[in-house]
Amino acid sequence: MACMDGLTVAGCERCPALVASRSRIVNGVGPADAALLFVGEAPGANEDREGEPFVGRSGDVLDDGLREIGLARADVRITNCVRCRPPENRDPHVEELANCRGYLEAELRRVDPELVVTLGKVPAEHLLGRDVAVTSEAGDVDDCTVDGETYRVMLSVHPAATLYDPSQKETFADTLRAAAEYAGEGGQSTLGSF
Ligand code: URA
Repeated sequence: MACMDGLTVAGCERCPALVASRSRIVNGVGPADAALLFVGEAPGANEDREGEPFVGRSGDVLDDGLREIGLARADVRITNCVRCRPPENRDPHVEELANCRGYLEAELRRVDPELVVTLGKVPAEHLLGRDVAVTSEAGDVDDCTVDGETYRVMLSVHPAATLYDPSQKETFADTLRAAAEYAGEGGQSTLGSF
């Protein structure tokens, strides 16, 4: 088994195309008991290089959004549906999402967050198992059941959407604020203790 602690995947070779395109497996980061678990799609070039989810421009948007509601990156957990960078940053294929699903479910069980926040359409549809219109459903909460446990999932636009379409900035900020409130987080950034 490539994932012993529910969080860290090592040595997985289930997806030949991703094994060929990745430099490393990009595991989730943040506290294992975080109240908020953010789930993105898959690592991009920056994440593949640095070994951490959301460290490129999307990551800057996420970090800024968290800071605006009094949270630091270190206060939340951040992971992806697929842990290896797809070639040319294409969307992960259905079988790649399926191959990595068990790792995401293990992380969900281990972290047991108050709220999961999906960043973009791919993680929303992957976790909820239905079509999602991510802009019109942003901020909505739905359920996802894994092994008989139900998790609350709030839908968010992808942080990168705010770079292409500035009108999404407010939608993203409103969703983060609602998520922090829902999870009983915010206004208590670890930065505040320094
Ligand atoms: N986009 C994602 O969906 N995940 C990342 O880790 C970075 C960008």
